[in-house]
Amino acid sequence: MTYRTYSTLNSMSQKKTFYVTTPIYYVNDVPHIGHAYTTIAADCVARYKRLKGYDVFFLTGTDEHGQKVEKAAQQAKVKPIELANNVVIRFKDLWNRLNISNDDFIRTTEARHKKAVENLWQIVNKNGDIYLGEYEDWYCTPCETFWTETNLVEGKCPDCKRPVEKLKEPSYFFRMSKYQDSLLKHIEAYPEFIQPEGKRKEILSFLKKEQLRDLSISRTSFSWGIPVPDDSKHIIYVWFDALANYLAACGYPDDLKRFSRYWNNKTGEVIHIVGKDIIRFHTVYWPTFLMSAGISLPTRIFAHGWWTVEGQKMSKSLGNVVDPNEMIDVYGVDQFRYFLMREVPFGLDGDFSTNALKGRINGELANDLGNLLSRTVSMIEKYRSGIVPEPNILKYREEYEGFVMGQFENKLKTQFDSLMSSLNFYDVLSQIWFVIRNMNAYVDRTAPWREKDEDIRSNILFVLSEGLRIISIYIYPFMPAAAKKIWQQLGLNDNIENIDFDSGTQWGKDISGKRVCKGEVLFPKIEI
Ligand code: MSP
Repeated sequence: MTYRTYSTLNSMSQKKTFYVTTPIYYVNDVPHIGHAYTTIAADCVARYKRLKGYDVFFLTGTDEHGQKVEKAAQQAKVKPIELANNVVIRFKDLWNRLNISNDDFIRTTEARHKKAVENLWQIVNKNGDIYLGEYEDWYCTPCETFWTETNLVEGKCPDCKRPVEKLKEPSYFFRMSKYQDSLLKHIEAYPEFIQPEGKRKEILSFLKKEQLRDLSISRTSFSWGIPVPDDSKHIIYVWFDALANYLAACGYPDDLKRFSRYWNNKTGEVIHIVGKDIIRFHTVYWPTFLMSAGISLPTRIFAHGWWTVEGQKMSKSLGNVVDPNEMIDVYGVDQFRYFLMREVPFGLDGDFSTNALKGRINGELANDLGNLLSRTVSMIEKYRSGIVPEPNILKYREEYEGFVMGQFENKLKTQFDSLMSSLNFYDVLSQIWFVIRNMNAYVDRTAPWREKDEDIRSNILFVLSEGLRIISIYIYPFMPAAAKKIWQQLGLNDNIENIDFDSGTQWGKDISGKRVCKGEVLFPKIEI
């Protein structure tokens, strides 16, 4: 049996589906740049796939159970649910401000989620993969992870280096060891299952070297969580609970029509975007739970890197945690979104600094793109009373107009889809900016303000407007608000969100006759 194609129900949907998720975020703390990063990345690919005509389901949410949240609530002297209710608002507000287009937001304290977790548990249990035993080893609460003595590094958690506590309590176990071979085979058979490649290799070598142990999946020493069906002294392990959110949100277990549309769909894609710290939960625990339950596996798990801040690890104690709300207030939403997607290749670690952010805003956004738009619109107002002129194709010059049009037929067009689908936002943006810079060079070289031939001047103004129209579609997934502003300044009335990507990015002539309308500066420069 191959797990990807395990499906008894056919897709009801006509369009190809694309189901993209972020991790669900713990509510013990308010959102920071790390949370914003994953969510923005998922938003970029979701927006792109919608323009490509996919039936997109984009999910995010919050992870509200477990000891870590219970402890945080105790410290704040509130009930865990009160803490969760407060922090959830912070996440939802931030996603609104960041223009995140999620289709759903799941909380693990919702009834639909609880039902999915209980159902998953019952099926895995029915299949003989859960047994009662006793856990005697170590636990790291900040990571919500079990460790053996030999895993520890200098007596501390090997992942976060914080103190661990010794546990000895009755526990239900999941027979994870039973699935080691099937998991290995799956990862080998589906190279795209774990990305980037480096992470895939790490997981493969781990699975080849180490014997998977059965996993403790219940706790008795705290109470904030979902009780084990038929044994309420036990609380279901928070990762078993949390991972099931991906099923719950798309209809599992009751709405099988919806579930078969987004999850059990041979032609659709299910992709989990996560940070590198939680890759093992997603590529080892999660697929083995699913195999046991006989549910198909996600298509892809992509692990991105971590941000440091001015060269240092981000931490509360260092006081250097980057607050996305502050970044939005000071620099703007699209500026922040752009920076995160542009600064480092998705998958690698990156360093955040306000100097680097300012540099990109002033250089690439204000000088390159903002300036290209404002000079184009100003010239159309000055020389053509604000109306985008008709081109005179007979007077196109190969080395000038031909050069700009060629930019749009080149790599940008042929590689955009594969780069975007492989979440290579860095190369996508580099290529878009290569074209933008070439358009600016074209303005400088052709100097329309000195041009005596009115047909040629019209051609230049037309080529710039048409180029900018297409650029705005390309940048829309990354900077939806800026793309809309460009669209408005070019006098285009239809909603960019409803554009068909493939036909929209074709070079055409429809922009002629539109009335441009100079608006506010697209990206104000930042004082350094
Ligand atoms: N609740 C779990 C996920 C369960 S998914 C079924 C969790 N939550 S979290 O709130 O701790 O972290 C969420 C994400 O934030 C992770 O993907 C993590 O990688 C990311 N980041 C946290 N700090 C980060 C940076 N400094 N840089 C980039 N991302 C970081 O884990």
